[in-house]
Amino acid sequence: MNDALLTEIDHVAIAVHDLDAAVAWYAEAFGATVAHRERVERDGVEEALLEVADSYVQLLTPTRDDSPVAKYLASKGEGLHHVGYRVEDCAVALQSIKDMGGRVIDEVPRPGSRGTTVAFVHPKTSFGTLIELVEE
Ligand code: CO
Repeated sequence: MNDALLTEIDHVAIAVHDLDAAVAWYAEAFGATVAHRERVERDGVEEALLEVADSYVQLLTPTRDDSPVAKYLASKGEGLHHVGYRVEDCAVALQSIKDMGGRVIDEVPRPGSRGTTVAFVHPKTSFGTLIELVEE
C-alpha cells in the first residue's frame, strides 16, 4: 500500500453550460475572481480557475459537441464533473492504480492546462468519481 501519493486537492471541476454566467455568479456570490482561464483544444473545453486557498474551483464548459464534457452535460446536466488531486509524480500515482488492476482513461500522463501533467482514472474504478491526477 502506498502512503500519501495525494498531496493536496488541486481542483474541484464543475461542468456548466455558460462559463461567463458561472464566473459572474461566483464573483457576485463569493467575490471569487478568475486566476486563470484557458481553452484546452485537445480536450474540447474552456476552463476558468477560481482560487480557493491553495486549490481551485474549475468551471468547465465544452467548446465543441464531441467533447466529453458536452456528452456529460447532455446526459447528466450541470454539476460536479471530477476531482483533481495534486500528486508529486503523475506516472507513479497512475501506476499505483494500474498495479491494483484499476481502469484508467489515460494510459500515460499527458499535458493538462497551466503546464501541468495529468492523467484521468476511470470513475468505474474509483467509486463513481472521475479522478484527475495533477502534477505541477
Ligand atoms: Co481538471
